Amino acid sequence: MSEPRNILVTSALPYANGQLHLGHMMEQIQTDIWVRFQKSMGHNCYYVCADDTHGTAVMLRAEKEGMTAEQWIEKMHADHLADAQGFLIGHDNYYSTHSPENKALSELIYGRLKENGHIQVKTIRQLYDPVKEMFLADRFVKGTCPKCKAEDQYGDACEVCSATYEPNELIDPKSAYSGATPIEKDSEHYFFDLPQFQDFLQEWTRSGTLQDSVANKLSEWLDSGLKAWDISRDAPYFGFEIPGTTGKYFYVWLDAPIGYMASFKNLCDRTEGLKFDDYWAKDSKAELYHFIGKDIINFHALFWPATLSSANFKTPDGVFAHGYITVNGEKMSKSRGTFIQASSYLKHLNPEYLRYYYAAKLGSGVEDIDLNLEDFAQRVNTDLVNKVVNIASRCAGFVKKAGGQLSANVAEPEMLKEFIAAGSTISNLFEKREYSKAVRETIALADKANEYIQAKAPWAMAKEEGKAQEVLDVCSMGIHLFRLIAIYLGPILPELNGKVCSFLNVNSLNFTDRETVLTEHSINKFKPLLTRIEMTQIEQLIDASKADAAIESGKKPEAKAEKKPEPKAKKADKPSTNDGTIEFDDFATVDLRVAKVIAADHVEGADKLLQLQLDVGNGETRQVFSGIKSHYQPEDLVGKNLVLVYNLKPRKMRFGMSEGMVLAAGEGKDLWILEGNSEIPPGTKVS
Ligand code: MSP
Ligand code: ZN
Repeated sequence: MSEPRNILVTSALPYANGQLHLGHMMEQIQTDIWVRFQKSMGHNCYYVCADDTHGTAVMLRAEKEGMTAEQWIEKMHADHLADAQGFLIGHDNYYSTHSPENKALSELIYGRLKENGHIQVKTIRQLYDPVKEMFLADRFVKGTCPKCKAEDQYGDACEVCSATYEPNELIDPKSAYSGATPIEKDSEHYFFDLPQFQDFLQEWTRSGTLQDSVANKLSEWLDSGLKAWDISRDAPYFGFEIPGTTGKYFYVWLDAPIGYMASFKNLCDRTEGLKFDDYWAKDSKAELYHFIGKDIINFHALFWPATLSSANFKTPDGVFAHGYITVNGEKMSKSRGTFIQASSYLKHLNPEYLRYYYAAKLGSGVEDIDLNLEDFAQRVNTDLVNKVVNIASRCAGFVKKAGGQLSANVAEPEMLKEFIAAGSTISNLFEKREYSKAVRETIALADKANEYIQAKAPWAMAKEEGKAQEVLDVCSMGIHLFRLIAIYLGPILPELNGKVCSFLNVNSLNFTDRETVLTEHSINKFKPLLTRIEMTQIEQLIDASKADAAIESGKKPEAKAEKKPEPKAKKADKPSTNDGTIEFDDFATVDLRVAKVIAADHVEGADKLLQLQLDVGNGETRQVFSGIKSHYQPEDLVGKNLVLVYNLKPRKMRFGMSEGMVLAAGEGKDLWILEGNSEIPPGTKVS
């Protein structure tokens, strides 16, 4: 064999703001098949990925969940990693962009861009939410379209008439966070001087690194001229602060692809003999490939190579874009139950079914791929169960009966040669990411193997006198052919490949093993390798996905919500008083009680709040967040009796639930918390 290649492969880093679905898994499966294929060919191939943890979306999601961003991304990381492992994705490292390695590399790269004069500072005017105290990205401003007057349109484009505009052109704009009317505010931003890379990118995008259709699309962009790229965002932002600034952060898309490097750096630091520079230095001979979706091409084929080039690192040898997944011919839909989370799939079906189906559909292009659920079940059952696994189950028993050792003879040497030679065609197809063609070639081999066994009919021969050797020869031949098919499907079906290794009593079934012939070799007892998909399993998955979607949107699942809740008894309308007084009954609806402070603490990330644990009597404790931090030290409050609004509706805050409110007098600088006599037992009603 020629020298092994050194290859580093990535797939796009999933956002840490939600769960992975079958669209994300398509990309990881596509990447994993390619990586496993390279490993099977004997190359040094590493596959790194990570969660993309930064940005406004993650920050707000964590807030909504009542967690710190760090707590939230830790949970997402565990979930995403479990999904990947469930689908047998063999990441060599699954890391996080919120890592020390990524911070150091982002700062290093930014420093180099700056030294090279590729960073400009400009003041821009942006919409700002005065209530939430943050700048608003276009998507977070909503208002009436200035052109067609459609209401509730985003700040960048109208979904009704397709007009594009600036967010400040909207009529009656509102912040999507707080509903407040945005104001305009100036802010300094940092820009990467992309236009300086015009010539470099013209050349790079045409150097064979991209699919033709992608290169063509990009040349339209390049011809119309590039603009400087805004790489900074203002606080509050979850990310890395830009060195030498306060309150300016790297835009998530600056540090996200650097996350590829950081994940690899982290792998190098714990792998003997693996060196970062061997893969990333400008003159490195190692190969670098990114698998991505078609929606993020400009980040990977314009900004990213330009950034790497300025920072004196190696640029990618290939950026491979793929299309989107549709289910039953339509965009994944929550109400139809076709928005399928990776974890839900795994509860109902074997991951290898989907790996196989995706492979059977994937080519090297950017076309969308349809997951047709009926076709999925049929294809898996026909190809894998009826054709592939069947070869082994038809032959294994006869070999076992003959003593468990494969014959010393090769019954059909020409046929075996043909099957081995097919491995070259198939490996070329895998290399070019033409998996559907590789699958077609392999299944054609399975058809041939079955025809051979069918024609020889060892089950009939076994009943005849003196045919024992011939039966063994035929069935051994069947096993040799089956073995090659298991090798060729290995990158797609790694678990099946492993089970076939145990059955055939061998250590590996790689492309590099394909010329080996197992004559006079003992094999193990055959165990069922794969079961059929039943349509009921798919139906259960769809039902579960409908329920997932309903839970996420806070609704009850449709099936269970059919029964309408009893209408609430309507409150008798009380005559309103117009002299500003209230009835005693109105006052009596407020349940005030004495509560003793058991513990008080600062809240990380909140500069006005203290977190109080209160004893409210009858063994019950309550947690309350109170905006009194600038007036009281936690230790001053412990042991005090306060007055609590006991029946205030609990409120979910960024940091947790607040279960009531303590009374205070005054406001602003002059504020005093109301104290009760320390002898009053906690829980006593105040009236
Ligand atoms: N965080 C960015 C990528 C940063 S890479 C430095 C991102 N994350 S994502 O979670 O939205 O998407 C991750 C990958 O999944 C992207 O390549 C995206 O194209 C792909 N897919 C997301 N939905 C998909 C489908 N429905 N079908 C196929 N791929 C899809 O983008
Ligand atoms: Zn419009």
